[in-house]
Amino acid sequence: MELTFIVTESIHSSNQKVLGLNPSYNQSTKGDDFTLANKERLNGHLNHMSTFTATPGEGMTRYSYSPEDVKTRNYIKEKMQEYGLTVREDGLGNIFGKLAGTSSDAPSVLIGSHFDSVPHGGHFDGIAGVIAGLEVAALFQEQKLKPTYPLEVIAMIEEEGSRFGGGVMGSLGINGLISEKDFHAIRDQDEISVVEAMKQAGLDPTLPKYRNPNTMKAFLELHIEQGPILEEENITIGVVDKIVGLTQFEVTVQGKAGHAGTTPMDRRSDALIAASTIITDLPKLAIDEGNGTVITVGKLNVYPNGANVIPEQVVFTIDLRTGEEASMKRVMKKIKTVIQSHQEKDIKVSIEQQLYMKPKSLSEDVRSLFTDTAKKLGIPSIPMVSGAGHDAMVFADFTKAGMIFIPSKDGMSHCPEEYSDTDHLSQGVDILFESVKLLTKTH
Ligand code: GLV
Ligand code: MN
Ligand code: MN
Repeated sequence: MELTFIVTESIHSSNQKVLGLNPSYNQSTKGDDFTLANKERLNGHLNHMSTFTATPGEGMTRYSYSPEDVKTRNYIKEKMQEYGLTVREDGLGNIFGKLAGTSSDAPSVLIGSHFDSVPHGGHFDGIAGVIAGLEVAALFQEQKLKPTYPLEVIAMIEEEGSRFGGGVMGSLGINGLISEKDFHAIRDQDEISVVEAMKQAGLDPTLPKYRNPNTMKAFLELHIEQGPILEEENITIGVVDKIVGLTQFEVTVQGKAGHAGTTPMDRRSDALIAASTIITDLPKLAIDEGNGTVITVGKLNVYPNGANVIPEQVVFTIDLRTGEEASMKRVMKKIKTVIQSHQEKDIKVSIEQQLYMKPKSLSEDVRSLFTDTAKKLGIPSIPMVSGAGHDAMVFADFTKAGMIFIPSKDGMSHCPEEYSDTDHLSQGVDILFESVKLLTKTH
């Protein structure tokens, strides 16, 4: 694929400007916990959107195009408008709020993350980055700043793949990596297509999805770390240099249904027993590969799922992540061999790859900008590798993509216990705000 980079100026050369750009950031007179970002406003967004869950009291469950998605998107759009942004949605339901630049037709600096969740997840994964984008826009409005390049706050759908599988669907669509044919074929577990689901949510799937890379100057994403390192090291910010490669498969094991009481043990084709033996073989593949390679089977459906019926079909997922592409290829090959070895006369196993993202390095220019800005604001930062997948890894092939992490309490994520401190979030926003001002050439 031809990649187009359109950032014309060197971010590095303008780093000098960060010093003194921010005279109001004076920790000695305003206290150590002073930030430009308004913590009350951040907490207000967090608390409000935390209520939009399908599983109240049991974590955040916000599937794409669900009633909770609609409530959240309405809130995000309302706040975008309140902060003076022009709002639009694309043919996937991604939300964009734009503050025009003084230079006409200049590419935008995009800032944001996703607003869907895993089942029973936390209240910070994804949405913290959307809130950070909203807060940057609020600061631009409050300080009456006029960017030369447009600023766009972006809130994306289906990063987790919890409803339609795979993941990063919003950013794949924006960057032209989902054909219209494939788009029409995507269905959830209940055979509801994206098109139907979008219509039910009042969205228009016929709107354009793709945006030319020439319209993007950079993509910046704040995210929670989802691991323990920052907290353990007592560091506020992780500047992501690399995101591990990740691939997901859906495996279907086809056996034969039968009566649980009357079918002798030697005459069964039990899909669940076959699936279990495959699954048991998988962890060793990751352990043998080493170097942080991980394999997870996180989703498994048994059909017809009756206590007294021999399982006829089992569908499960395999999620494989590792830092080196050669490792990914090696382990993928071994997974396929394991699957092949379990084919029997009455047991058929098929495997479908739903997502393949090779390890990605993020923009060196944006990394330096974040690191220098953090230093100048007196906020401790370290470089980090992300073990989680993010929309930034899709954007990285099309524009200058950068990410910062804030600490996660006890390293917990994808669970209701997920928590990040507002002090850390607001310091992350300050770094984004100063970085965005430079990238958009705001004077
Ligand atoms: C997203 O959270 C992922 O890493 O799967
Ligand atoms: Mn996640
Ligand atoms: Mn996320």
